[in-house]
Amino acid sequence: MNEQLRQAVTAMPKAELHIHIEGSLEPELIFALAERNGVRLAYPSVDALRQAYAFKDLQSFLDIYYAGASVLLQEQDFYDMTAAFLERCERDNVRHAEIFFDPQTHTARGVAMETVVSGIHRACQDSPVSATLIMCFLRHLSEEDALATLDAALPHRDKLIGVGLDSSEVGHPPEKFARVFARCRDLGLHLVAHAGEEGPPAYIASALDVLKVERLDHGVRILEDAALTARVAREGIALTVCPLSNTKLRVFDQMRDHNLVQLLDAGLLATVNSDDPAYFGGYMNDNFIAVFESLPLTLAHAKTLARNSFAASFLPAEQKRRFLDEVDAYFAALPA
Ligand code: ADE
Ligand code: ZN
Repeated sequence: MNEQLRQAVTAMPKAELHIHIEGSLEPELIFALAERNGVRLAYPSVDALRQAYAFKDLQSFLDIYYAGASVLLQEQDFYDMTAAFLERCERDNVRHAEIFFDPQTHTARGVAMETVVSGIHRACQDSPVSATLIMCFLRHLSEEDALATLDAALPHRDKLIGVGLDSSEVGHPPEKFARVFARCRDLGLHLVAHAGEEGPPAYIASALDVLKVERLDHGVRILEDAALTARVAREGIALTVCPLSNTKLRVFDQMRDHNLVQLLDAGLLATVNSDDPAYFGGYMNDNFIAVFESLPLTLAHAKTLARNSFAASFLPAEQKRRFLDEVDAYFAALPA
């Protein structure tokens, strides 16, 4: 990758649409919060914890990710985690972030919904980065648990732009959450779901047809179904692709095997995102650099990816327009 392209990609304005805030907890902060809260960790040091970050699939990651989140107890913990993430956004020229959080990971440990939402939301309000919240349901738990979680979040409805579906995909198809997504839809919440990360294209189809999601998280297995690919391209439904996540969780063996270029060539509204940056070796610009170094991507692709990130966002039309204009002005000003 030449220096000019690297510079253009890192400095371009961009939005992040697939970030689990608990996945931004760096080992150093995990240890600091464990100390502050008197939580015992299974690892003796930051280095030992980091050494454990060698995953063979999604589940092997999730086990350690949920253990890391156990240090989050007080409102200030959620604030500090989110504030640290938003500072990284500034460094990577991320202008807007739609942030996932997993309340069930915390409420199951006796932390109040109010504590979780208030801490994350307050950090968003204090940041110069535009940031909104998407509450995710854990798909390895029951739909009843998801419905109770939605009830607990209702007093905070105004702090949420949408809901999502995450955690262990295979064996937990979208259909399992049909009722809770229908309720969220009635509440006017935006709908997204992880689909086609490890799960088959049939999960992508049911996320669209049963849950009625507006955006697909990951979705990289869509290319196994040509008719579905054509439909998603035609309908302009975005994919929030997470390259470093995909290689760390062995969805693709190596970055040079990643299908991002094929997704774009198929006319899909693909975006680049970080997923769980503290666990997968990098934030937004690390993801961009990784794909631009390993795949035949050009400056024209960079502009497409920057535009896609805002186009696929849930920002109001006026704000979206302003960010898209900023992207266009940025690329117009680059030396030829
Ligand atoms: N939770 C955090 N990261 C996830 C991922 N990549 N897939 C499913 N659930 C997740
Ligand atoms: Zn994810």
